[in-house]
Amino acid sequence: ASDMGDDLEKVLLSKEQIEARLDEMAAEIDADYAGKDLLLVGVLRGAVMVMADLSRRMHTSIEMDWMAVSSYGSGTKSSGVVRILKDLDTDLHGRHVLIVEDIIDSGLTLSWLVSNLRSRGPASVEIATLLRKPEAAKVEVDVRYVGFDIPPEFVIGYGLDFAEKYRHLPFVGTLAPHVYNG
Ligand code: PRP
Ligand code: MN
Ligand code: MG
Repeated sequence: ASDMGDDLEKVLLSKEQIEARLDEMAAEIDADYAGKDLLLVGVLRGAVMVMADLSRRMHTSIEMDWMAVSSYGSGTKSSGVVRILKDLDTDLHGRHVLIVEDIIDSGLTLSWLVSNLRSRGPASVEIATLLRKPEAAKVEVDVRYVGFDIPPEFVIGYGLDFAEKYRHLPFVGTLAPHVYNG
């Protein structure tokens, strides 16, 4: 395998910073959903790390389910038209749902997903995301739990990919220009 050592430009959020913030988020979610059954809905594939590390910090009664969605349209930019590749196995009727995401960029994916899930008769639908790029927002999404607001740079690691790579890195960072330019 090729060495990734040269691919990284800088670390934006260290493993320790992420873990400390997840501690706080988990405590907040626990408090908000005390006495309720919560369904965590992870959005494949980016949300895998956040789901694993956030849920393990929680003491609320939780279930987990997963969705895979894909934006129609050109290449790297979300179009806002979303197609379900893998739907939930869980009936949402009467359920408290918390969507778990790695990042909100344009907001188009989440905005579509929230209204899709709201149409299924849940008791509530909220969002928890590790990262948000406020300056990249094309649509306002009401997000209950945000780990970090970050600048509109392309970030990788901790679930986030570039061409499916770098998801496994335990931190969030940016890539050196040569990675994009080949
Ligand atoms: C990324 C990210 C979010 C979405 C955010 O997923 O994980 O799900 O884009 O973008 P938006 O706010 O502009 O809609 P991606 O479609 O790259 O799939 P992945 O999770 O499998 O990497
Ligand atoms: Mn994603
Ligand atoms: Mg991606």
